[in-house]
Amino acid sequence: MRGRKVVSLLAAGLTVACSASNSATGADNAAGREAPIASNPPAAARSVSAATAGTTGIGDPYFPGDGNGGYDVTHYALALAYEPRSKHLGGSATIDAKATQELSQFNLDLHGFTVSAVTVNGRPAQFERHGDELTIFSDLRDGAAFKVAVAYAGTPDPVQNSSNLGSYGFIPTADGAFVTCEPNGAKTWFPSNDHPSDKATFDFTLTVPEGVTAIANGELAGTPQTKDGKTTFVWRESNPMVTYLATMTTGKFQVRTGDSPGGIPVYAATDPRFSKSLNSLYDQSARITDYWTTVFGPYPFKSTGGVVDDFAAGYALENQTKPIYGGFEPDEGIIAHELAHQWFGNSLSINRWKDLWLNEGFATYAEWLWSEHRGNGTAQQSFEDAYASATDEIWKYPPGVTRPNDLFNASVYVRGGMALHALRTEIGDTKFFPLLKKWTADHRYGNVTTEQFIDMAEKISGEQLDDLFDAWLFKPAKPASVG
Ligand code: TRP
Ligand code: ZN
Repeated sequence: MRGRKVVSLLAAGLTVACSASNSATGADNAAGREAPIASNPPAAARSVSAATAGTTGIGDPYFPGDGNGGYDVTHYALALAYEPRSKHLGGSATIDAKATQELSQFNLDLHGFTVSAVTVNGRPAQFERHGDELTIFSDLRDGAAFKVAVAYAGTPDPVQNSSNLGSYGFIPTADGAFVTCEPNGAKTWFPSNDHPSDKATFDFTLTVPEGVTAIANGELAGTPQTKDGKTTFVWRESNPMVTYLATMTTGKFQVRTGDSPGGIPVYAATDPRFSKSLNSLYDQSARITDYWTTVFGPYPFKSTGGVVDDFAAGYALENQTKPIYGGFEPDEGIIAHELAHQWFGNSLSINRWKDLWLNEGFATYAEWLWSEHRGNGTAQQSFEDAYASATDEIWKYPPGVTRPNDLFNASVYVRGGMALHALRTEIGDTKFFPLLKKWTADHRYGNVTTEQFIDMAEKISGEQLDDLFDAWLFKPAKPASVG
């Protein structure tokens, strides 16, 4: 049962790049230049110095166009209506941000759609579209807090045939949409600083046809309201979240809510095709979240849960507070994996995609810890199985620096997990488990790097661990077995 998702992701033999499609989106360009301008002079009339233009990427060499420079987002308020029959998505994104330099223009990432209007601090602003970049012209002081509102509509165009993942982003389904955005698919449904190094809180006001359920991150704010055949769901994620974990999964769902035995609110939902799984999804998600609090430290968010949709993705994504399982009944192993991500990946997020093992290696090791906890084989046995069955490819791919066109390689999962087991074996349980808790406590809601983890492991253990991490994370060769 272990590593089901990995197997399904990788056994499919999908190989190419994760990078989002850069196809130009026909319909998107005209509106901006013709938008009525109130106080802002047209872009052409400005003397834009490069020094005051926010960069078109946030500085991650793996995805140069992802994210943007010159500002930090603090909050996204998304007010969107989705019509499953026509696949039409429209509404507004209102973004609170803070300039980190003097700005004359800055970018958001957005793929497709027609943008009808942009305001900055309530005043109409000039804008342009180039590929997946939305450029907004506005003069802002360094340090200024500002509010951008983007009105847009169109048919979502998810990323297709990506590397190890198939499709991702906003994926229309027969009765709604399956929305899973790692690594950079948020821009397929809202304008954003689409990179995990810029975390923000979120509000979602989602309007769908009556009878359809709209599920987002965080908790419902009040009872959904129905009027004129449409229901509006208001969801609020009050803890920082990376853009790729945002979701507005919609469709027909059966829902069960309550509290875990440990007192954490639980929201579980299944597509009618998986209604038989609702209770086990609910019970296991509750039980596993509770258990992880004893191993990883306090649960970082206000609720937990899970969603099973009938879109046959064959994979799961750790959407904040509500992992989503695409077209299969999840077993304990994969639930343990996705819920471990709530600490590793979601509360503590990577700053750069090269460090992805900090998410996937930890979540894979969590599967081994869960199996150990359940008496289904120790982590040492899981390690030995993984070591024995690892392919040459895994030994050639050091997981400590992912490959940009093969981010979700099995090595990042399995050899990443083995690296943690090697560390545990070296420093012992009395250092290893306190290290996990200190790691999640010190960097709660923040961004982390591999170097920071190695530093903390060395401090807590009092050992020099360069050789161990070199062997398991950084060298393209098979390390000696441990234990
Ligand atoms: N992070 C997911 C996991 O291991 C895998 C994944 C990556 C994914 N990108 C995705 C799943 C996009 C769905 C969509 O649990
Ligand atoms: Zn994972």
